[in-house]
Amino acid sequence: MTKILLAVLFLCAGGTASASVDQEKFIDGLIARMTPQEKLGQLQQLDGEADGHARSEHYGLARGGLLGSTLNVRGSTETNKLQQAAMDSRLHIPLLFGFDVIHGYRTIFPVPLGGAASFDPGLVERAAAAAAAESRACGVRWTFSPMVDIARDPRWGRIVEGAGEDPYLGSVMAAAQVRGYQGGDYSRGSRIAACAKHWAAYGAAEAGRDYNTAEVSERTLRDVYFPPFKTAAEAGAATFMSAFADLNGTPGTANSWLIRDVLKGEWGFDGFVVSDYTSVAELINHGIAADGAGAARAAIAAGVDMEMVSRLYAGNAAALLAKGLIAPAQLDEAVRRVLRIKLRAGLFEDPFTPAGGEKDVLLKPEFLDLSRLLAERSFVLLKNERGTLPVGRTVKRILVAGALAGDKAAALGPWSGDGSASDAVSILEGLSARAAEKGIMIDYVRGAGPKADLSDDISAAASAAAGADLVIAVVGEDPSYMNGEAASRADLSLSGRQQELLRALAASGKPLAVLLMSGRPLDMNWADANAGALLQLWFPGTMAGKAAGAAVFGDVSPGGKLPVSWPRSVGQIPVYYNHKNGGRPVDPANPENRYASRYIDLPNSPLYPFGYGLTYSSFTLTGLELSRSTVTVSGKIEASALLSNKGAVRADEVVQLYVRQLSAGVTRPVRELKAFKRVTLEPGASQRVSLEVPLPALGFHGTDMKYRVEPGEFTLWLGTSSEGGLEGRFYAIP
Ligand code: NOJ
Repeated sequence: MTKILLAVLFLCAGGTASASVDQEKFIDGLIARMTPQEKLGQLQQLDGEADGHARSEHYGLARGGLLGSTLNVRGSTETNKLQQAAMDSRLHIPLLFGFDVIHGYRTIFPVPLGGAASFDPGLVERAAAAAAAESRACGVRWTFSPMVDIARDPRWGRIVEGAGEDPYLGSVMAAAQVRGYQGGDYSRGSRIAACAKHWAAYGAAEAGRDYNTAEVSERTLRDVYFPPFKTAAEAGAATFMSAFADLNGTPGTANSWLIRDVLKGEWGFDGFVVSDYTSVAELINHGIAADGAGAARAAIAAGVDMEMVSRLYAGNAAALLAKGLIAPAQLDEAVRRVLRIKLRAGLFEDPFTPAGGEKDVLLKPEFLDLSRLLAERSFVLLKNERGTLPVGRTVKRILVAGALAGDKAAALGPWSGDGSASDAVSILEGLSARAAEKGIMIDYVRGAGPKADLSDDISAAASAAAGADLVIAVVGEDPSYMNGEAASRADLSLSGRQQELLRALAASGKPLAVLLMSGRPLDMNWADANAGALLQLWFPGTMAGKAAGAAVFGDVSPGGKLPVSWPRSVGQIPVYYNHKNGGRPVDPANPENRYASRYIDLPNSPLYPFGYGLTYSSFTLTGLELSRSTVTVSGKIEASALLSNKGAVRADEVVQLYVRQLSAGVTRPVRELKAFKRVTLEPGASQRVSLEVPLPALGFHGTDMKYRVEPGEFTLWLGTSSEGGLEGRFYAIP
């Protein structure tokens, strides 16, 4: 009945189900009929129970038109029940159910940093689409993803949730995720609304400490931190989330320059901005507001449209309006934006979710296949000597050691939606299954894990190693507390007794392959110097073991690349490839010169550079050709080279194009990634790989903070990491 009434209301306002609907007129009509309390209700988002249930107070609020959205309430039954209460309200405005679907809803995909390491945006998009389909079947119509924060500091636990350090890779991955979640039209049956977060520069927290202050120049914001957000907005991201952090003296949730001027003004973003969890109330701690009323006023004035969890809009806005401290138009504007996204999400036409539809969608075989595929493609081979990997023909007995090998929950990684450890294939299960098919024996000894434990037994692992032909150690982080939000680390060495375990295993003299499960670069100096192989698995998701089995036994070759520079030491942080040259760079011809920008006790370079990763094959890249040597600033340049697979197995290489402008009005990075392509080649095969770059993408913000492409000389590299490569030159002309 309510649904019919609503449809009539919608159609009277000139609405149809299509994009041609005069949605704004419909919203005008609705706003004209809303009381101030109902308006504030639309701006209130409240949290459900962790297990997905609504709280009892939500029903009364929804029925009274005093609730706009929830987070964490999920499941078709639960969302339909609460939605019914909202549909019974005076104006029948549906609720928007949000949830943190970060790397999958029930089928869990590799963590976003791993997804970025695949350098395969098409696959990342398909994973996001699968996550959207599962979410939607469970009544969730809005994900708080993608996190598109640039992160140059691996101490920051949330580096795992994003695409790493690079604005270009970050932008490509941001767009892929938005497209995957939303499709062209997120009212459609298997799509949901996305949320680009955390606006802005949350990842620049000083000292890598979560929630900490960030001081970033406007140029660095615009050239480095903003691009993935801008791309997300251009890809149509429905919503943005304001950051917790203080940026240059103004917290994200009170930052009207960020929200009103840049996002809604310059970029024309017409969706809504939600605060982060209680971040409106936290404006008091920041010292931006003296009390709740002040906090509400500051956030509304900044353009934060919806308040997550704290209730300061609902509690104070009426009085603020009465006193003229916020303008009625500001309130209406926020309500309009929220209603606009609800309309675009198709909620007015179809607020409910097919009851019990979950069973047909969750963990579909094709989603599991996709999860395995993305995991396989996310692995980064950091070292491989003496053919340690893949498992060779002479290997008859393998020792697997390390608590993480058997840990199904860890395989899923941090923040794994409604994923269940019982769905996951552990690394040990995957390796054992593949070994059994090949007639290879597997022994398992726990040895040690991320947390020192009474059951740690290094000597048992060492003696088992003596009887093995190959030792595989699975070490890293426990994502239940070491990764994601509020999980910053000052020490990036292997925790617990895991380093001791590695040393004891290596002392056996048997070939040692280290599989690393971590959400950030860890101190791998010892493994780099002493292990035969080092394979970064990140946190691979539900099909972790299947993917690891395929890579370890050589059914597939690892082909991922690092989306972050891998420091040698915490003391180098921040270390990132797209740094400036400075006036006293290290001279390669005279590296010992003391008066250069360098350490006296470590090289400047990271242990492994951005864009780096090996394969089981070996590739050559030869014969660089540029389409032209002079190009107008509005033109484009194409670079190509011959990629050849010289090894014995089919493998992938990621060809990467970098540029540097040698002289410009402001200093430019020594390299910037501008294009890449992941290519699969059979052994012995060659392919000319071409990458194209539009020159308008080579610009920067000048001293006036305006974007420009300056004519001048550029170096261009085509290579397989951010170091080295084939080098060419071209001139940009007016
Ligand atoms: C806080 C986190 O910062 C944000 O990323 C998340 O979406 C919200 N909590 C909701 O869970």
